[in-house]
Amino acid sequence: MNRRPLVNHTGSVLIFGATSAIATDVARRFASGGATLFLVGRSEEKLSALRDDLLVRGAARVETAVADLTEIESHERVVEAAKQALGTLDQVLVAYGVLGDQRASETSVETTLRDWQVNATSTIALLTLLANELERQRFGTLAVISSVAGDRGRQSNYVYGAAKAALSAFLSGLRARLSKAGVHVVTIKPGMVDTPMTAQMKKGPLFASPARVGQDIHQAMLRGRDVVYSPWYWRGVMLVIRLIPEPVFKRLPL
Ligand SMILES: NC(=O)c1ccc[n+]([C@@H]2O[C@H](COP(=O)([O-])OP(=O)(O)OC[C@H]3O[C@@H](n4cnc5c(N)ncnc54)[C@H](OP(=O)(O)O)[C@@H]3O)[C@@H](O)[C@H]2O)c1
Repeated sequence: MNRRPLVNHTGSVLIFGATSAIATDVARRFASGGATLFLVGRSEEKLSALRDDLLVRGAARVETAVADLTEIESHERVVEAAKQALGTLDQVLVAYGVLGDQRASETSVETTLRDWQVNATSTIALLTLLANELERQRFGTLAVISSVAGDRGRQSNYVYGAAKAALSAFLSGLRARLSKAGVHVVTIKPGMVDTPMTAQMKKGPLFASPARVGQDIHQAMLRGRDVVYSPWYWRGVMLVIRLIPEPVFKRLPL
């Protein structure tokens, strides 16, 4: 396990999907350390409430930008605004996503592709832009929330899982490329988290709080870790799930 010491708290932090429950927790942790933040989200109202909250918690400065990130043509404008506001991109977190409706996707190509556009295509487009910025800068951390769902496609959510699998594979290659420029790429793989995304799901003992996952992400970003399962026990759970032979796996109600 990588045990690099925590780096300075008080740099700049750029968050895409900042109003997500998990990202909000991470933003609060950086704010308490006195960081300057640039928040990107879809809702002006939610961003403004989050900005006020972060300033009270100790953020040095908080700027915001509204964007629907599936509109890929908006990415350049937002990244440029963030660079202008922050100067350098020290810590970047990409947190937006949708769980989608697996059953609806099974009968609708449009639904499948719409969710794929959020979780895979637009995220990969954004990461291509961010990667080049950080590579030019020659330092920084780029953390992205993928999911344990990407480790093996399950019949109950393989559309979401496939998009996260694409994202995880993309990040794996990107990490190797950017390491040569001194840039850390952190892949975050949460298990089930109690957030608005999972509001419709029945909660069991494997559900974690956004605070638990937010703490793991914050530490992983400061330490420049590679791949982080959150909470940690999901690494073991997914190892077992990956090892189940296909003839058995296809019969399991997973
Ligand atoms: N909850 C879980 O069990 C779980 C498990 C593994 C991974 N994850 C991942 O964790 C990340 C954060 O999710 P969460 O659990 O914190 O759920 P959440 O609170 O529902 O957050 C999802 C966020 O994505 C934003 N978003 C969705 N579509 C967008 C778009 N087109 N453009 C810009 N923003 C968009 C939403 O914006 P609005 O605020 O405007 O709606 C919201 O802030 C996601 O990538 C998710 O896939 C979650």
